[in-house]
Amino acid sequence: PTDRITSICCIGAGYVGGPTCAVIAAKCPEIRITVVDRDPDRISAWNSDSLPVYEPGLDALVKRQRNTNLTFSTDIDRAIDQAQLIFIAVNTPPMPHTHGSSSMGAKPDLSAVSECARRIARVSLTDKIVVAKSTVPCGACATIAGMLRDNGQKGVGFSVLSNPEFLSEGTAVRDLLHPDRVLIGGDDRVAQDKLKAVYMHWVPEPRILTMNTWSSELAKLASNAMLAQRVSSINSISAVCEAVGADIAEVARGCGSDERIGQKFLRPSLGFGGSCFHKDIASLIWLSESLGLPEVAEYWHQVLALNRFQIKRFVARILADTSREGGLSGLGGRRVACLGFAFKEGTGDTRNTPAADVCCELLRNGAKLSIYDPRVPRHHIVDKLAMSAASNCDIDSVSVCSDAYSAIAGSDIVVVLTAWSEFRQIDWEQALKLMSQPAYVFDGQVVLDHGRLEQLGFNVFSIGRAHVTTQ
Ligand code: UDX
Ligand code: UDX
Ligand code: ADP
Repeated sequence: PTDRITSICCIGAGYVGGPTCAVIAAKCPEIRITVVDRDPDRISAWNSDSLPVYEPGLDALVKRQRNTNLTFSTDIDRAIDQAQLIFIAVNTPPMPHTHGSSSMGAKPDLSAVSECARRIARVSLTDKIVVAKSTVPCGACATIAGMLRDNGQKGVGFSVLSNPEFLSEGTAVRDLLHPDRVLIGGDDRVAQDKLKAVYMHWVPEPRILTMNTWSSELAKLASNAMLAQRVSSINSISAVCEAVGADIAEVARGCGSDERIGQKFLRPSLGFGGSCFHKDIASLIWLSESLGLPEVAEYWHQVLALNRFQIKRFVARILADTSREGGLSGLGGRRVACLGFAFKEGTGDTRNTPAADVCCELLRNGAKLSIYDPRVPRHHIVDKLAMSAASNCDIDSVSVCSDAYSAIAGSDIVVVLTAWSEFRQIDWEQALKLMSQPAYVFDGQVVLDHGRLEQLGFNVFSIGRAHVTTQ
């Protein structure tokens, strides 16, 4: 039938736009998809052999579809003109905090989304379905609709839909191919059905949920907020475990076996990082405050506060256990091997990584750092620390190493900051010989075999575990 979608444009060739469109292209051979971006380097990268985004399975998918129904281009106006449906997948960073405000809330910066809406309005000569794919604050679809109405050509109709993305870094292609659910929010049933027909090429119908715009926008924020809340919940319990002698792995298993609770997302850690959780909670706090719901804002604020507490008490523990006898406070001159820097295993991304916060605290306390991460490039680590440290920590005290053993060699203390499974494979007997004695290991991600480390003679501390060897 003529009213099926056969031409899609996606504005924003980033983490969301690229993989999403590659999957749609692969699953919908009759749809032509053009992904556009204002950044010509991004577009040439998508057209080259080395894509700007690394995700397992993405390379093969893009390289196959590029020769058929998937195009990457900088000609934004032309792509808008030719499309029946336009995804907006540009970035929405949180706005900088207002000076003097005590609120943790932050409204995402909608300027890129607004720019797209005005452009779509100006360029479109036929009716369009406009789909908000980027994480946007609640109410953004209404704002977009208003802009399209105010700036559009006479006689051209727009339907705005909310269709939030739920992909995780490192599993983006799998998440897109097998989504738990697809949300399509809107008030135009016909437009919702057209977008639904696109997803029905590969997603079982019961998993495609249509709802009103606000429900869809809010479900996206609430999903990320609740996942982050689970991490803060288990981390709060980890602090109790350390005090009373319980083991967080056993407690997590004990709780998660209740199927109302479930096993997933109960891994104790140094806290959550990444581009989404902080931003979405800040957005939810901002929304609650602006609706006159301070109790709700405070509730979510605590999820962020607990996340910071986890880092604070980890560093305090390192200081307490290792400060030298004879009164030398802090870590003056001590070398700490930091294993991991990415915000989670399986990625080289360092946005909001707890590792950077721990490193800065250690530097502030006088430590020298040898950092190793299997995926994060050296200059990202240095830039990130230089930026977060701003003033009073000494970036000259940082060296970035190309493997775990060179980071460990000559150090007094090892800290595990990202849950890379390769850290389990380290030959700890060998590592011990490379370190100054007494040797300490602080496991912030609960990944190592602590019993074995203790047997070898390490002083061990782990998040969520009470048994610590003290000499
Ligand atoms: C609870 C636990 O479920 C049970 O495992 C434990 O052993 C004892 O405490 P119970 O108090 O009988 O059992 O009731 P439950 O069905 O869990 O509900 C507790 C309260 O939460 C009720 O007031 C219920 O109305 C409320 N509730 C529950 C909600 O408001 N929303 C929900 O989604 C679920
Ligand atoms: C998340 C959501 O999972 C995804 O649905 C949404 O679209 C974007 O945000 P992502 O940020 O890629 O994805 O990472 P995720 O795997 O969810 O982990 C987030 C953070 O929580 C990481 O720092 C991770 O280490 C931490 N985490 C996760 C824990 O500390 N414990 C857990 O049990 C799970
Ligand atoms: P996300 O994780 O949300 O996909 P990214 O930063 O990876 O975010 O990608 C967003 C992309 O959107 C970037 O490549 C950026 O150049 C592009 N972009 C931002 N604003 C505009 C705009 N107004 N027009 C076209 N492209 C834009």
